[in-house]
Amino acid sequence: MSLQERFDELHRRHAEAELGGGEDRVRRQHKAGKKTARERLELLLDPGSFNELDKFVVHQTQDFGMAEQRIPGDGVVTGAGRIHGRSVFVFAQDFTVFGGSLSEAYARKICKVMDLALKTGVPVIGLNDSGGARIQEGVVSLAGYADIFLRNTLASGVVPQISAVMGPCAGGAVYSPAITDFVLMVKRTSYMFVTGPDVIRAVTHEEVSAEALGGADTHNGTSGVAHFAAESEDECLALIRELLSFVPQNNMDDPPLRPTMDPVDRRDEGLQTAVPDQPNRPYDMKTIIEPVLDDRYFFEVQADFAPNIIVGFGRLGGRPVGIVANQPAHLAGCLDINASVKAARFVRFCDCFNIPLVTFVDVPGFLPGTAQEFGGIIKHGAKLLYAYCEATVPKLTVITRKAYGGAYDVMSSKHIRGDVNFAFPTAEIAVMGPEGAVNILYRREVEAAADAAAFRDAKIREYREKFANPYIAAERGYVDEVIEPKDTRARLVEALALLHTKRDSNPPKKHGNIPL
Ligand code: HXC
Repeated sequence: MSLQERFDELHRRHAEAELGGGEDRVRRQHKAGKKTARERLELLLDPGSFNELDKFVVHQTQDFGMAEQRIPGDGVVTGAGRIHGRSVFVFAQDFTVFGGSLSEAYARKICKVMDLALKTGVPVIGLNDSGGARIQEGVVSLAGYADIFLRNTLASGVVPQISAVMGPCAGGAVYSPAITDFVLMVKRTSYMFVTGPDVIRAVTHEEVSAEALGGADTHNGTSGVAHFAAESEDECLALIRELLSFVPQNNMDDPPLRPTMDPVDRRDEGLQTAVPDQPNRPYDMKTIIEPVLDDRYFFEVQADFAPNIIVGFGRLGGRPVGIVANQPAHLAGCLDINASVKAARFVRFCDCFNIPLVTFVDVPGFLPGTAQEFGGIIKHGAKLLYAYCEATVPKLTVITRKAYGGAYDVMSSKHIRGDVNFAFPTAEIAVMGPEGAVNILYRREVEAAADAAAFRDAKIREYREKFANPYIAAERGYVDEVIEPKDTRARLVEALALLHTKRDSNPPKKHGNIPL
């Protein structure tokens, strides 16, 4: 073979691999409103930065006529690239090749990039679009999944892992995304479920469509499995890029700085009246979060799930922070099962990856009701408490209004290693609200009073004046300082800079036993 022929062969092999499952199947993929694996990677990564690995890998199966069907790459495109100039490892399942189904060779390709990511301390991004285990391969395909699950678990807390679901993701295959840190789904074209509509119909006689069972809206709004629902594939891939701008490369790295022109001492007069005069009046906590952050930019995570708590990322003086905030505009900002689980997982992500936590508190307590108690609010609320207790990243807290009962302790209080705890003058830090307290303390007196309502009102006023303020906590040092709301940004930026060199650790152990 001449030199030229050798080059020609290489070019031919590249072209063949790049064609995936062929023009017909690519056309079908486009018709279904989906892009190919390579088109997705082009949008995800910085232009020209993709370095592919294992492009010529093929499966080794002989049965079911597979010996005659070998497609270079075998249904998954893997390699390394850059996002905002920083390295990432990627795998993109290619539905045009055997439905993106996972073979032994395919799993080895994914494991190779995951091993490299772990060794080099680089994030992993998986783009999922697959019919599941390669049916022709049987148990070796199941083994391949398990190899991936193991690596997902070992990499957890070492490098950030992000999963986009951009097509089918069913059966045991869902457990790889589920172990990763963030799951993004594309509306209308993606779904995730352990057992599909047909099995459900046969077993429980329920009729449900794939979309209603496991579409983006379901997993973002109802199950909480997913963190983002994108309108399109382009939006999904842009969201991954945005998400990565807040997180470090690995657990030994600091999150990336992004300098800003927004003055660190910007004082927002609007904040002075953001908390309403009347203690039971709802308000949107985002009207406090946004003005405090650099360029008023808040990148919300899991916006559609448990809206009574808000989580997401922002920056203060260029440094990324994780925000956790009660939302008085939903369920009065009560903590319930979903809110506790949502926030606990976010707190743990931030703690894994050295992202300081800023907590805004306005919480009247845990949501009462049999549904909550039977559902295990004790266990689930404990997750959030545990997550905050074990977190050693800088922890800043701002109590805007209510901080009642056990929920006061949970929400990054001083007692569980809150580093800097501020309160607004509108803060009410107490065992419970004035009405509840009077109902218990003065039940007999209220019943005996000539004008029960007037007596009760007077006692509520007395309790409110005495306890519904931040000063008793401040007198004890449980609140470091009572600040004017307009100073929040300046004070948080200063505190964050001060805490940059914070060192704290937990007792040595194999791992804790978080109440799962
Ligand atoms: C091999 C597969 C495949 C699979 C799809 N294909 N799934 N090949 N193994 N698992 C092939 C099809 O034969 C077809 O090939 C091509 O991919 C596209 O599939 P279509 O059915 O034409 O596409 P569509 O109508 O969009 O339907 C997509 C689908 C369906 C819903 C995913 O293909 C499907 O139900 N597939 C089987 C899913 C499944 O049962 N998987 C195993 C589950 S068990 P041609 O040549 O015609 O283009 C599992 C366990 C994981 O995954 C356990 C981990 C622990």
